[in-house]
Amino acid sequence: MTQNKWQALRDHHAGVAARGIMDLFADPLRAGQFSVQAGEMMLDFSKTNIDATGLALLLHLAEQSRVAAKRDAMFAGDKINVTEGRAVLHTALRAPEGVKVMVDGVDQMPQVHAIRARMTAFAEDVRSGRFTGQGGAITDVVNIGIGGSDLGPVMATAALAPSHDGPRVHYVSNVDGAHIADTLAGLNPETTLVIVASKTFTTIETMTNADTAKAWMAQKVANPGAQFAAVSTAADKTAAYGIDPARVFGFEDWVGGRYSLWGPIGLALMLAVGPEAFGEFLKGGRDMDERFLSEPFAQNMPVLLALVGIWHNQICGHTTRAVLPYDQRLLRLPAYLQQLEMESNGKRVAMDGSDLQTESGPVVWGEPGTNGQHAFYQLIHQGTRTVPCEFLVAKQGHELELAHQHLLLVANCLAQSEALMRGRSLAEATEIMAKKGLTGTELDMQARHRVFPGNRPSTTLVYPKLTPFVLGQIVALYEQRVFVEGVILGINSFDQWGVELGKELALALQPILEGKQGTAGKDGSTAALVKFLKS
Ligand code: F6P
Repeated sequence: MTQNKWQALRDHHAGVAARGIMDLFADPLRAGQFSVQAGEMMLDFSKTNIDATGLALLLHLAEQSRVAAKRDAMFAGDKINVTEGRAVLHTALRAPEGVKVMVDGVDQMPQVHAIRARMTAFAEDVRSGRFTGQGGAITDVVNIGIGGSDLGPVMATAALAPSHDGPRVHYVSNVDGAHIADTLAGLNPETTLVIVASKTFTTIETMTNADTAKAWMAQKVANPGAQFAAVSTAADKTAAYGIDPARVFGFEDWVGGRYSLWGPIGLALMLAVGPEAFGEFLKGGRDMDERFLSEPFAQNMPVLLALVGIWHNQICGHTTRAVLPYDQRLLRLPAYLQQLEMESNGKRVAMDGSDLQTESGPVVWGEPGTNGQHAFYQLIHQGTRTVPCEFLVAKQGHELELAHQHLLLVANCLAQSEALMRGRSLAEATEIMAKKGLTGTELDMQARHRVFPGNRPSTTLVYPKLTPFVLGQIVALYEQRVFVEGVILGINSFDQWGVELGKELALALQPILEGKQGTAGKDGSTAALVKFLKS
């Protein structure tokens, strides 16, 4: 049954796979018809091999997969995360006053607003200097978390640098002692606030780093606990850790780690940019939700972005996706999307446990332009595989006095998608090299190295300026895209069982590395590595 729903698209693809994307622009209306606007944001997907028939089939695939019904079930608080028996309601964290969101017959919104009010009050206290450390006003905040308790706030804090007017915010995630050592070096324990951010409050990396931070603070501060706050769903554990409930910001299990930036996990971001800018970020997310909920699929940006992803990965067989922000402040967006997309849709079984009938979600990677151009774009342009590229660029930068640099940035962004699509033929390369005076076999050889196959697909997301509101729109756009792709693949995008085995084995290896246990039962490679590491 699952296979059938893909067949029409596969047949269509077989018929058009060899066609040049450039040829599709014989239709002068193509750019308008294969792009979509969401407010002031525009997604161009015309530089792909999707034509009117392909788009109609993709839209039909979304209908057949019951995306609308499943979207409504998610927003309504149904327990769609079946392997954990949980609702999926990160959207409630950005819902405005007046909206009700029921789980097990209880409206969740009063609690959401109450916690946000507490976060706001605390952030204002810290930012105004009413809340102090032992040595006076807080100058630095260290957020200790990992995965979803780190990547979202890290990404957004970098993205919103122009809005920073609070204390300096630092992030520690890696259990590698180098991370916390480098971060704490130069900070004053007497004016530092530590936030321990962990949904479960059991994650070994986070708890180990929290202990290290506490010991560091205890060297100078009489009561280090007074300069600790916590963000978690596990109130019992934060209490056992000795953090005053007044500085504990809870959330419910219906917020997945990688979807948690909108609530208390965003506390460090709120401290950096202030409650008002944080509120704008939430409004942007809500704006995209409302579009996702109400726009017909043919004009629905998250749905169309998902369908482009499905086309490239499950239909064309391009299993990786490069995210290329031409926006230095989005430097951590690819890492953030790696978790969002790969932890959500990197699964080999469907909701009911049966084998997936198609590829799982794509490998996501990337770096900001123009830096990537001088690193890995070589492969994107001339390698043997096709890597669908997703460009992001702002109409305007924040640095108005450097508008000429922004222009250059935009020119590079557009040039890359054009070059990927257009390519350079052997005849063109030969002509260029002949003009340089080459002839014969040398001309032939040199020209062949300068051929660009072209016909490589990309999308471009253009937004007005990277404000808190726009960032909210972008993040929610990707969240909803991941949801739609997951629904079409038939998987549960909200669990992450694939991280468990490694965690278990790491725990088991600890006593072996400490020399308390031997390597009996370990495979030959692991045993040899242990031996060498200990030698
Ligand atoms: O190991 C994966 C994971 O469970 C992520 O899903 C999560 O974002 C991260 O670990 C951190 O978990 P916690 O917030 O519970 O410390």
